[in-house]
Amino acid sequence: MSRITITVNGQALVGNTHQPLLEQIEQAGLQPEFQCRNGVCGACRCKLDKGAVSQQDAMAYLAAGEILTCRSTPRESVDLEFDYQVSLVTKKAANL
Ligand code: FES
Repeated sequence: MSRITITVNGQALVGNTHQPLLEQIEQAGLQPEFQCRNGVCGACRCKLDKGAVSQQDAMAYLAAGEILTCRSTPRESVDLEFDYQVSLVTKKAANL
């Protein structure tokens, strides 16, 4: 297991080489789009601008240079570009 950098739309996160990118991005507090988490819907797609990933079988359509974050595990530091702003998870105050 190696420590790597996952850059999401220019924001650097600490990552690893054993978990799918979608999980790692969520654990860092960001909220990327997803639906199936199983390589079918394509909602989690993004562009891989730099680096390499291991991608498990998937059914969703991908354009050249795109990956599915739910099915991709980074092999090294990666730069990802989503075509929308990936927001931070906002936590509701407990007393609302
Ligand atoms: S969440 Fe559906 S393909 Fe990744």
